[in-house]
This record gives sequence, C-alpha cells and structure tokens, in this order.
Amino acid sequence: MSDARFDKDAGIWTIAMRSAWYVFGIADDGAAIRHVHWGPAIGDSAAAGLAAYGDGANGLRQPSPGEHKRLWGMDAPDEYVPWGGLRYEEPSLKAEFADGTRNTECRYAGQRITREGDAVTVEVDLADARYGLTISLCYRAHDGFDVLERWVRVRNDGVAPVTLAQALSANWPLPRQDQDWQVRYLHGGWSAETQLTEAALPLGKFTLESRRGLTSLNYNPWFAAHAGASEDAGQVWSGALAWSGSWKLVFETTAAGPHAGKRTHVTGGWNDFDWSLRLAPGEETTTPVFAGLYSDAGFGGASREWHAWQRAHVLPRTEPRPVLYNSWEATSFAVTEAGQTRLAELAARIGAELFVVDDGWFKGRHNDQAGLGDWTVDPAKFPDGLQSLIARVRLLGMKFGLWVEPEMVNADSDLYRAHPDWVYHFRDRTRSERRNQLVLNLARDDVADWLYQTLHGLLGTYDIDFIKWDFNRPISEPGWPDAVGDNPERVWTQHVRNLYAIIDRLRDAHPAVEFEGCSSGGGRVDLGILSRVEQVWTSDNTDAWDRLAIQEGFSQAYPALAMMAWVTDSPNPLTSRELPLSFRFHSAMAGSLGVGGDLASWSEAELDEAAALVAAYKQVRRTVQLGTQYRLTPARGKLTAWQYLLGDEVVVLGWWAPRHYGEIPPPVRLTGLDPAQRYQTTDGTIYHGAALMNGGLRLVDEPAGADGHNGLYGFGSRMIRLSAVR
Ligand code: GLA
Repeated sequence: MSDARFDKDAGIWTIAMRSAWYVFGIADDGAAIRHVHWGPAIGDSAAAGLAAYGDGANGLRQPSPGEHKRLWGMDAPDEYVPWGGLRYEEPSLKAEFADGTRNTECRYAGQRITREGDAVTVEVDLADARYGLTISLCYRAHDGFDVLERWVRVRNDGVAPVTLAQALSANWPLPRQDQDWQVRYLHGGWSAETQLTEAALPLGKFTLESRRGLTSLNYNPWFAAHAGASEDAGQVWSGALAWSGSWKLVFETTAAGPHAGKRTHVTGGWNDFDWSLRLAPGEETTTPVFAGLYSDAGFGGASREWHAWQRAHVLPRTEPRPVLYNSWEATSFAVTEAGQTRLAELAARIGAELFVVDDGWFKGRHNDQAGLGDWTVDPAKFPDGLQSLIARVRLLGMKFGLWVEPEMVNADSDLYRAHPDWVYHFRDRTRSERRNQLVLNLARDDVADWLYQTLHGLLGTYDIDFIKWDFNRPISEPGWPDAVGDNPERVWTQHVRNLYAIIDRLRDAHPAVEFEGCSSGGGRVDLGILSRVEQVWTSDNTDAWDRLAIQEGFSQAYPALAMMAWVTDSPNPLTSRELPLSFRFHSAMAGSLGVGGDLASWSEAELDEAAALVAAYKQVRRTVQLGTQYRLTPARGKLTAWQYLLGDEVVVLGWWAPRHYGEIPPPVRLTGLDPAQRYQTTDGTIYHGAALMNGGLRLVDEPAGADGHNGLYGFGSRMIRLSAVR
C-alpha cells in the first residue's frame, strides 16, 4: 500500500510507494520547499539525515528540528521553482502581476494528505500572500505502483488578474552523481514514429518539445534517465506527460561550483512558447499530470511498470481489444457501399470483430482536398445513409466503426464557407494549409459546442461502436483575432482542454462507444489522450519489419493493449518490402491486432491462412494485451524476440531478417517463469521453466526443408504459446 506522511517537526513529507520513495520538505523557515530523495526505499532516519545534511554522512544522528532549518536548504534543490529571487535555473512557473511585478515570493502555507480508494494524494500550498496567488504542488500514488503523478494547481485569490507566462507540471531533481546522465527518448517523423534513442546529457540544457499544438510525431513526451542501466537491470528514472498539445521537457545540468558539483533536474509540462494564461480573480488552473517512475529493474522493468500502471489507472477500459479491420489501405478515398460490404464480408471471414470505415465516407470527400468539416454521409457513396452497411456488418457478427477528423476543415467545405473565422489565423496573414486543411479554433466555445453537437448527432443517428479520431496537421498561425486583448495566447492549452472535454462528454453520452486516437499515425500518443481512448494508431507505416523498431520504441512507455497494429498487403504500399503473411501477422500480434490490407486482392489460401492466424491470436491476446511484456532482444538484430506472461500463459514472438552464411540465431532465454514449473507448447512439447530461462527456447529451426514462410533464407517469424502444466 502506498503511504504518504508528513513529519511536522522535521517538515518532511515521505511518499512511500510499492518500492520507491519520494521525499521532500520545508526549508529556510518556510521560504522554500526542497527536494530530498527520489529512488529506493531508504527508511525514515536516512531520509531525515539526507534532508538535514544533503548526504548520508550524519544520517545516523537524528538532527534536531532547528538543525534542519539551518542546514538542509544549502544543498537541496527546489522541489518546484516559481521564478523570483536568486533562482536562475529553468523555472517551473513565471507569474506576472497586474501592477507590473514579475516575480513571485512564495512561502509554505499548508498541506493536506488524503486517501481516496487506492490512491493517496499530498497537496502542499505555496502562497504569495501579497498577491493572493496560491500554487498547490500535488502528488498522487496508487497502491501497488512506483509511479508518482505530479501536477500543480494555481489559484488567483487576489483582486487583480495574474498572467502565467509559464506553468510547468513538475520539477524532478535527479540524484547527484559523478557520472554523466544518459537519457533515452523517442523521436521520429511521419511513418517512423517512436524511434528509441539515447543521448548523454550535456552541461547545459537539453530540451525535447512540441510547438505544434499536438503531441507530435517528432518527439514523444516520455524519457528514461539512467547512468548505466540495461534492459534487465539498473536504476532508471522515467517520466511521462499527460498532455496532447504543445509540451516541453527540459533537462538541465548545472555545474554548481567545486563544493556543490553538478546538478541535473528535469522539468516539464505545457510549452510556454507563445503561450500565456490570464487568471481572473477567483480563477484557477490545473496543469496536466507529469508522472514519474523510479525502477531498479532496468528499462524493461520501467516499461512493465508503465504498462501495468496505465492499464490500471490511465486507459478507460482494460478488456482485451477486438480484432479490427480498417479499409484505409484497401480503398483510400474510393469508398463505396458495395466495396465496403465486400471488405466486411472478407473481414468477417478471417475473424475480424470490428469493421472500421476510414476516411472518404462523408460529403464531398473524394480526395484530401475537400470535405473535412462536413460530417454528413456522402449520398453519392451511400444513397441510403450508412444504415444498410452497418446492418450488414452486424449480421456478419462485427461491430461498426467510423473515421473522423473533427478538429479540421478543408477550405473547400460548406463549414469553411459558412465560418471562415472558425480557423486559427491572424488577420491579413496567410492561412498555411497542410494536406489542404486548416485547424479549427477549438479554443472557441462556439466551435467546441458545434463539434460536440455534430459528433453527438452522428453517434445518435447511426449505430456506431467505435470512432477513430484523427488529427492530420499541426497548428500554424495560432491567431484568434476576435480575442485580441483577451489572452488569445491561451489557445495552445485551451484547444486541448476543449478537445478533452468533448471526448469526455461524448464518452458520457455514449458510454458503449470506444475510441482510437490517431494523428497521421502516432502523432498524438501520450498519457492525456490514453486516458480517453481505448487505443492509438501507432504509425501509418505498416511495414511489419519497420514496425518492430517503432513498436519497440512505443513499448518503452505504452502498453501493447493500446498499440493498434495492422496486417497489410505485400509488397508494402509505403516501403515496397515483401514479407510473408505470417511475418506480417506476427509483427502485428505484438500489440492489438488489426487487419488493413485489401482483402479483396488476397487469394483463398491467404484468406485461410489469415483466418488461422487471427484464430491463433485470439488464443493469446489476453496474454499479449494484459500480460507482462519482456523485450528479450533488441529490435531488428539477428533475432528480435518478445515475451508476454500472464498467470500460467506464456507467449513468445520472434522475427528475423535474411541471414548471412546460413547462421541460425541461438535459442532465446525466457524470463519471469517459475523455474520449477513445466511448460507445454500447443504441439505438446514440454519444457522445464529453468531450462527455458537458462538454456532458452529455439525460435529458428535448423536448416532442413526451409520454405519461404519459415524464412530460413528470407524474413521469418514464429509465435510459440506455452502453458504451465498444472
Ligand atoms: C491519417 C491516418 C491514416 C488514415 C488517413 C486518412 O494519415 O493516420 O490511418 O486514417 O489519415 O486520411
């Protein structure tokens, strides 16, 4: 059980999670809240010693309360950094007061510890009494996890407006050490999302950010800092932001002089670039959650903790996902009722459970130049509306889903002709188009209302089970001419708040409807959207080999349950790579399985093989989607192997590329099994747990009778399911 306590005499808070501890306290007689410890459980007296002396040297001697106040402030970093006074590092918050004062002077002003269900929350108030500004530092830990959620609430109880020029969610001081910090992060671009990379943190600043108004394809708001951890072992400090708009993470290392050494802190939240937020008297704002996680079990342990915590406390549902079919790669914009019906029949034949009509179903949408904004069914394509297709899909035993891109508009649309002022723009400036579209100013309440009503109407008219919600371009020219003088710079955050509010309202009004988040592939993947959608579209790149690397990156932070992966045609339409059908399936089976190929062009034999593979996936999907995931080897080496474990069930997936010199990759050692237990494959072979973990499991067969499918000389893959013999 997570526990949070406040030692009044020492002025120290301790948040004791499953195995990690987080400690901070009051310093300088209340003029500062300082960080003490984030890492393993260290015990109260060690924590008190660290708080008092900044190192363990005197940790056995309990300092008196007076000593605390005198000593510990010298060395300990600020827990949160409201700009003002002698603070020169990246601030956490910058407030500008109506009289021209631009710094804050905060003092500790009270605290609350509350328990609700399985979560304990600590709130610590810092107040700038002169202006009535209160900054509440909030912390929440759920029982059984080492994830600490942090956020901040800023309240203006003064008599004049306060403008926030920066308001980050949290500041995470990293432990001091002599070695350089390494940071792992995810970069990418369209069709190459979530590429795992690593950099040594320099003295100075290292910033990851999005200024695009969306999470972005380029960087994901997640990191894992370490100083020599591996996949299987070592200390990792990781963080992830729950925000789907512009964000930033700043890693700052300062050489603090010969006595103090160097210090690193990570701070993040809303991107302050071009942003400000005015708080009227009586108003408050709450930043998004910036979650932090300490693990001593390496990158794999950190990922597994993120996955388990997101399944338990972020994702809206934790049931295994249906096998999905999506028509986008099959038809592009050439959507017709007959074509979709044919695809639905074939999708049902191979075992799909949810049939999704992608882009191209609505009025005037024959290509990407027109139609966005006009969310009515195109009568030329569906003369009787969507009813008959939906009825057919249901008769085939599947659920029905529909693609929308609600925050966008094409200039060639009835909506834009009626409301040219509804898009972000500056007066007398170009309205830059991307994919021929403009972004609706969702910060406007009238636009947000219209959008809610439009989607609510669509869900009310048709029997829709699933919405794929896309967002295919970043925001540009973020102007709002009608709001000039009334803080139009708030659009960066207000857009996302209204987006969240619309999805929340739709979910309330249509509780059975499920959602997929999408943004030109994986451009909007973060803890914020994941608390509102069942799954996300990982990448428009459906090349099953490229996907291994994309999925490896995705899995650092996010769970297989939410990772939608389709099997598409070969050669792949994007990369032209040819891969066996089984390889394409096995790659997609590492997450939530979908099929997105042109089934009408698949042979009978391929459809039969697909049906068998879908059936096999249904046998293992609970283990894959809800189980513990181990990346046994790095992606795209000689052999990429992942393992999933849930109770008595084990699933191993392996993939390999054409090999040199006929070399056979060695068996892969499994992990997390009961060494004394025996495990049986679906073909009856029995292995000892200890043997699987020490000798390993052979995924690639000896070179006898190789065929293309087993990929002896080409690309090959394997899925092995084992069950404990009870
Ligand atoms: C984006 C999505 C695709 C597809 C198209 C439709 O690129 O990522 O999956 O929905 O839009 O236009």
